[in-house]
Amino acid sequence: MSAQRLKLAIIIGSVREGRFGPVVANWFAQQVDDRFEVDVIDLAEAELPAALPPVPPAVDPDMPRPAGMSDLTERLAAADAYVVVTPDYNRSYPAALKSAIDWHYTQWDAKSIGFVGYSGGSGGLLAIEHLRQVFNELNAHTVRNYVSFPRYYMLFDENGQLREPAGFEAEARALLDQLHWWTSALVAARAAQVAA
Ligand SMILES: Cc1cc2nc3c(=O)[nH]c(=O)nc-3n(C[C@H](O)[C@H](O)[C@H](O)COP(=O)(O)O)c2cc1C
Repeated sequence: MSAQRLKLAIIIGSVREGRFGPVVANWFAQQVDDRFEVDVIDLAEAELPAALPPVPPAVDPDMPRPAGMSDLTERLAAADAYVVVTPDYNRSYPAALKSAIDWHYTQWDAKSIGFVGYSGGSGGLLAIEHLRQVFNELNAHTVRNYVSFPRYYMLFDENGQLREPAGFEAEARALLDQLHWWTSALVAARAAQVAA
């Protein structure tokens, strides 16, 4: 019997016009093997008000959300694991990503999260480190390995293809291996909790 495929949501964290995020997310989606079923979530397609709800999602997880957010909420809830694709914006991650995180709560609970970063010199690492702190508060597990593209504009060609892919493909494999281990463990643990 083949193992159950785990549901992996790849989240494009930048929403600005002319963004590079989708190129990085598409590259990562191509690295994913058949242990996972992939859903690429583009935050630019969701309604994400900066003004948060009057009652925090931690207090009322099912509070009313904007109609334009319901697709995002359902897809986040369906995922077993996430890979967040993020640039650095002023040494941190995009505001749209914070909004998507803060509008949700149970969706992140006891799930595993990996990161793919890109930007100028820091390659998304400053954003990734901030995101680790945030996801800790949501009882999510962030895996150690990541993929980072410092000065991404020199690494990808004009067709969005990596000029020298081998090292980055190896990084993606290591990330996916860790994510699979943790996600399998957490899926089993959540199922045991429900059954108890
Ligand atoms: C508001 C803003 C702040 C930025 N801050 C940083 C930064 O602190 N470090 C860095 O390496 N690049 C920084 N950049 C460069 C971005 O990482 C780069 O523009 C990248 O393409 C942004 O991702 P996106 O194209 O998907 O929006 C910044 C870009 C913007 C728009």
